[in-house]
Amino acid sequence: MKMNKKYVAYDSVFAKLMVKVEEDEVNLEIKGLLSPFLKNTKSKLEDQIKDSNFVLKNDKIYLSSSFPPIPSFAFKRLFKNEIKRFIGFNYPNNLTIMVTGECECDCEHCLASEMIGEHRLSKKDIKRLIDQALDLGVTQIVFEGGEPTLREDLPELVNYVDERATTMVVTNGANLDEEYLDRLEKGLDYLLYSLDSPYPEKHNQFRKRENLFQKVKEGIKKSVERDILTGILYIAHPGNSDYKHLKDLVDLGRSLGVFEVMIDEIVDSGSWREGNVLDEEDKARIKQFNEELLNQDIKILNNFFLLRETENFGCFAGKRWFYASPTGEIMPCMHTPISFGNIKDKSLKEIWKKIRSNSLFHDASKCVYEKEKYEEEILPKMLEKNQFPYKMYKNR
Ligand SMILES: C[S@@+](CC[C@H](N)C(=O)[O-])C[C@H]1O[C@@H](n2cnc3c(N)ncnc32)[C@H](O)[C@@H]1O
Ligand code: SF4
Repeated sequence: MKMNKKYVAYDSVFAKLMVKVEEDEVNLEIKGLLSPFLKNTKSKLEDQIKDSNFVLKNDKIYLSSSFPPIPSFAFKRLFKNEIKRFIGFNYPNNLTIMVTGECECDCEHCLASEMIGEHRLSKKDIKRLIDQALDLGVTQIVFEGGEPTLREDLPELVNYVDERATTMVVTNGANLDEEYLDRLEKGLDYLLYSLDSPYPEKHNQFRKRENLFQKVKEGIKKSVERDILTGILYIAHPGNSDYKHLKDLVDLGRSLGVFEVMIDEIVDSGSWREGNVLDEEDKARIKQFNEELLNQDIKILNNFFLLRETENFGCFAGKRWFYASPTGEIMPCMHTPISFGNIKDKSLKEIWKKIRSNSLFHDASKCVYEKEKYEEEILPKMLEKNQFPYKMYKNR
């Protein structure tokens, strides 16, 4: 796409942030009183978006499913949150709601496997949760589970989120026929289909579901035809992140016309075997692979796991994101299922305050689940008392 355009992303007396699109390059420009102090935030943001496969839709530029489009009220709020963070106030950007514990798959790695069951928050509780999250500053609401599309009212819940935040649904793709998509697309910003292998048999085996790969492919095609910003979410582990897997994955994504292939890393939580995670060599290979793609002008990978590296934004748990379990327990991260309160009896504001006052979330230089205090003090205590919103580390 060849174009020259400038978008105002944020404008206040303190700072003005602009996105410049020149030919097919995206750059940020910052001006204003606070600009010398926000240079670091700007350059971290720029690193994430400069090689993005941007899309123009409704006179907005969509840079990646990790950020709201520009210009938008949600992006302004996100940048405002970053300014506030800079002066010491932490407000969350992202709330993921596990809208159900039900799922028709039994994936080898599922972190939620111990939670899979009948649990569901009521529609009323979820709407209240959304209201409170938006009031707290959240700029993206992600609907997950279990399998979120097993809820008939998911389309209504997605459409309930107002312009203060973008919406994303993450799905295994088993239930997205034309009729469901008709209802879901209203108010939906991003739809991510999970894929664990570019090879049909391997994917179906991993998810223990026949024909799922085919369904994902058909679902992606239908979503792309409808102009929904559709992506693939690929959880990389040592068994699916060699060069051939990555190349075949990207070829598949490109042939299906997806907006992005988001790569995140496996965590040895849930039913995943302890220690079977990406090492530095695997991560370097994925980065190197992306460099090769960029050299060929192929902009499709969103290496989401890099956002959480120390030199970028660091760990998001209890700082930039938090999670709601299917029973309403609020946790700092999906992989650290410590409940800080239930939405049915406490306000989200109170719960967020409680999370923020815990020293575990003050230093973001390491993922919480890798911290000694979590591994050696908090986790064993919780295991002893069985105090989880859902059980973790069942292999330990
Ligand atoms: C819990 S699922 C819920 C949504 C839907 N059922 C699906 O599979 O897309 C959301 C995402 O979490 C990922 N996931 C599950 N277990 C994980 C683990 N141990 N580490 C990292 N990601 C995991 C899944 O692959 C999926 O992409
Ligand atoms: S990863 Fe998603 S599809 Fe697989 S078992 Fe977990 S919730 Fe179900």
